[in-house]
Amino acid sequence: MHIPVLLQEVIHYLAPQSNENFIDATVGEGGHTKEILQRNGPEGKVLGIEADPELYQQLKKQNLERLILVNDSYVKIEELCQRFHFEKINGVLFDLGLCTWQLEESRRGFSYLKDEPLDMRFNPRSDLTAAEIINFWPREELERIIREYGEERYSKRIVEAILEARRRERIVSTSQLVSILKSVLPANYEHHRLHFAARTFQALRIAVNHELDNLEGGLESGIKVLAPAGRIVVISFHSLEDRIVKNIFKKYQQQQILKILTKKPVVPLAEEIKQNSHAHSAKLRAALKN
Ligand SMILES: C[S@@+](CC[C@H](N)C(=O)[O-])C[C@H]1O[C@@H](n2cnc3c(N)ncnc32)[C@H](O)[C@@H]1O
Repeated sequence: MHIPVLLQEVIHYLAPQSNENFIDATVGEGGHTKEILQRNGPEGKVLGIEADPELYQQLKKQNLERLILVNDSYVKIEELCQRFHFEKINGVLFDLGLCTWQLEESRRGFSYLKDEPLDMRFNPRSDLTAAEIINFWPREELERIIREYGEERYSKRIVEAILEARRRERIVSTSQLVSILKSVLPANYEHHRLHFAARTFQALRIAVNHELDNLEGGLESGIKVLAPAGRIVVISFHSLEDRIVKNIFKKYQQQQILKILTKKPVVPLAEEIKQNSHAHSAKLRAALKN
């Protein structure tokens, strides 16, 4: 089960009231949404968007009342609001990254601790996989994503090793990639604060799912559909995402469209991190529409 991250803080900033409408742009296993639904009855609704068809099916089966569930990308928020006549939106939530189910059970290669196909698609109907990138992308492109999306300082030597390995055989599994990484990264990689494969895996996942472009577009649309006095809350899990959120909030505050509610990002208490290690890098930012 996915434990929703920063749940109390999300509820504090979204502040759901009776009969208000919300969009959960990344509904996942429904943790945050269920909490909102407890508070916005009897008429308030949630439009829950989820890119992953399997997660969508799992939540659909629960038949939650007042939840409009859609299997699509949050980049289409505006179009989806029109399609479902979803109006007077009092809050939008983005909880980025991936769900526990995707990491632990989807068998799509999100985890460097498992031996699985190198896939990493949130939506298995999209065409780009991590294997495609690793086996066929040119050196410069591979190096760029690992450096920029992974913020990995060893991108050059990692790419050298990938190019050499793929000349010999197709790289199709996470364990093949992990052993390539292991062969070229220092034994005391980042003083053991981070698994040596973490940055490369993050880079691939971002590239496969176009995560940063989607985030920019999704946030802009989310802000657009909010009603006056509506709240937007975003939880990010790494600095690239957080920077995008911070800059977009700033831009809209300068245009007097938003008022930022969190001067500094809100982070989980030590207690939450102890119970849910996934929360350790979470940062929440919230803003109010003028
Ligand atoms: C951290 S999980 C959300 C967990 C959820 N808040 C909960 O409490 O169960 C992030 C979810 O966003 C989904 N996702 C990623 N990119 C998306 C996109 N562009 N549109 C819609 N959903 C997306 C992922 O498939 C994943 O299920």
